[in-house]
Order: sequence, then C-alpha cells, then structure tokens
Amino acid sequence: MNIKRQEETLMGWSIMWWLFKLFGLPITIPWLIYHFLDIMQQKRKRAALSSKVIMITGASSGLGEALAHTFYRWGCRLILVSRRKEELERVKNDLMNTYQTIPTHPPIVLPLDLTDINNMKDEVSKAIMVHGRIDILINNAGITYRGEVINTSVDVDLKVMMSNYFSQVALSKIVLPFMIEQKSGHIVGISSVQGRIAIPFRSAYAASKHALQAWYDTTRAELFDKNIKITVISPGYIKTSLSLNALTENGQVYGLMDKTTENGYQPEFVAECILKSVLKQEKEVTIAPFSPKVAIVLRTLFPSLFFWIMQKRAKNK
Ligand SMILES: NC(=O)c1ccc[n+]([C@@H]2O[C@H](COP(=O)([O-])OP(=O)(O)OC[C@H]3O[C@@H](n4cnc5c(N)ncnc54)[C@H](OP(=O)(O)O)[C@@H]3O)[C@@H](O)[C@H]2O)c1
Ligand SMILES: *[C@@H]1O[C@H](CO)[C@@H](O)[C@H](O)[C@H]1NC(C)=O
Repeated sequence: MNIKRQEETLMGWSIMWWLFKLFGLPITIPWLIYHFLDIMQQKRKRAALSSKVIMITGASSGLGEALAHTFYRWGCRLILVSRRKEELERVKNDLMNTYQTIPTHPPIVLPLDLTDINNMKDEVSKAIMVHGRIDILINNAGITYRGEVINTSVDVDLKVMMSNYFSQVALSKIVLPFMIEQKSGHIVGISSVQGRIAIPFRSAYAASKHALQAWYDTTRAELFDKNIKITVISPGYIKTSLSLNALTENGQVYGLMDKTTENGYQPEFVAECILKSVLKQEKEVTIAPFSPKVAIVLRTLFPSLFFWIMQKRAKNK
C-alpha cells in the first residue's frame, strides 16, 4: 500500500519533470539569457555615465537630493541648483563624504531662483562652462498647491505655473543651445501622475504638470534630428517635503505632511528608476502604484467614468 503510494508520487514527479522539460525549459532558458544580457548592457551603460555633466534642479531636498546621490555614485559631474545655498552646500558635503568617485569631481553649487526666468542665463552659462559641456539636464524643482478653484487667488495660479512650468521651459532654452552645439543632450522633465490626470483641489499643480507634458512632447519631436533626447517622468506620491512647502488658496504655506505623501515611495527608489529610464532613453515613464496607473487608462478610455469618480472625490474632501 505504502510502496504503491510512493510509486504514484514518483510517477507524478516524473510527469511534472517531463512537462517542465517540454514547456518550462524553452521559456526559462531564453528568459535567463535575456536577463543576463540586459544586466550586462545596463552595466556598460552605467559605466558610460562616468564623467557625464548633469545639472539637477531642486537638488537641495527630496527627489532632487536623491537624484544627486544616485548620479554622483556613478561618477557623474554634478551642477546642483536651487534657491537655498546652505542646503546645496550640505548636499555637496554629504556627497563628497559618502562616495569616493574616481576621478573626483566636486559638485558645483549654483544657487538660483528658477522663477527669475529673465535673469539666470549668465549664471547658468558660467556653470556649464566650468566643464565646457552639459550632457543631462534634470528639471526637477517644483512646488505644489492645495485649495479650491473658486477662492484661489490668480496670483497663486501664476506662482505655481512659474515654479513648475515656465522655470523648466526657460532653463531648457538656456541649456539647449549648448546641447545642440555639442550634438547631443538629454533633458529629463519631472512631471507627475497629476500631469496625466487632474484631481480635485490641485488645479494649479495639475495644470502646470499637464503643460509640461505638452511642451516636452513638442520639443522631443522638433529636436529629434539634433540628437536631443527627452524623458518625461510622472511619479506618484513620494515621501518628501513637497506637501509641507505647498501653497494654499491665498499663497500661504500649507505646512502639513499629507498622509498620501507620507506613505509615498522613498525618493531613493524613484531616483533609481529615473536613472534606469535615462540609461534606456525612455520617452516617458510613469512611476506609480497600480491604482494611479489604472486612473490614467480610465481617463483615456472611459472619460465619463473617470469624471464621475472625481466628482465623488470632490464631494467628500
Ligand atoms: N513628492 C511627491 O509626492 C511628488 C510626486 C510627483 C512629482 N513630484 C515632483 O518632484 C519634484 C521634486 O519635488 P520633491 O517632492 O522632492 O519636493 P521638495 O522636497 O519640496 O523639493 C523641491 C525642490 O525644488 C526646489 N525649488 C522650489 N522652488 C524653486 C525655485 N523657484 N527655484 C529653485 N529651486 C526651487 C527646492 O529647493 P529650494 O527651496 O532650495 O529652492 C527643493 O529642492 C517636483 O517637481 C514635484 O512636483 C513630487
Ligand atoms: C476657501 O474655501 C474653503 C471652503 O469654503 C475654506 O476652507 C478656505 O479657508 C477658503 N480659503 C480662503 C483663502 O478663503
């Protein structure tokens, strides 16, 4: 009785093994080879990052700071931009104390208010001329907003648009001639899931991020011939100070850490995803959990359903 059961089990196993050989191996082996080649290729590309000159805006905190770490670790020469000089110096010191890059390229600190769009050309150009070139511009600096359309001052709409949209357009226009001259370049625009779908109480923010998507799509097409690559990144919530620095209806600082932001992705994780997208020269990437991704598809395929859900959300704020 016992022996018979053992034989049955053995037979069961040999059938399983036979099935595996028939269907499993032809799938598994190419899959392993594919992944092996992919890893090798990523390694080669990462090696190519060494000594690339990369300007990162909003490098004094959050995602920008994480991006600085991610790219510096691979030996990139960084130009760190934001308003607060002391914070940029702190990031610079952290980088130089944490990683030994060979050869050592101390990051350049460039304190700048990116909403001062007509007065930044000279300083940006000077910073680029330190290394004589610029390979990648990561347009990351930005602010967010919380409030209702009906009582939000237009000044706030303008300020958010300036900080998120016009600042990226203006800086890109300063950097692009250098890239065109050197016959290569890559601009990475940090948009948001809210650049693909608009949700209640974020009107100015969503509008500024939607505008970015449009501007980059046009730019990508026009500058394709000039060997300029454009990658637009749309992240979901990230655990940063973004909501703390948010503007409210009358332009005051919101000053609270939202639950959504608190529970968001770690900035280091998002920075690593961005590095991979840059290496693959992807045109657009959404870095978000399942439900925001579904919402983006809903907005495109079933807009009425999407509008209905947003209507409900606007009601129970
Ligand atoms: N956190 C999220 O949930 C989330 C989700 C999707 C997309 N994003 C996007 O990710 C990007 C980075 O935000 P974060 O989450 O890392 O927020 P954060 O921690 O508040 O960082 C914002 C950065 O932008 C800089 N900045 C703001 N206004 C500026 C100006 N006028 N001139 C120069 N620099 C300016 C700030 O530096 P200074 O104060 O020193 O100027 C800071 O370094 C933003 O574009 C944001 O829209 C964030
Ligand atoms: C705008 O309206 C909302 C809801 O009525 C209110 O909570 C908020 O304080 C108002 N903000 C301003 C600046 O009036």
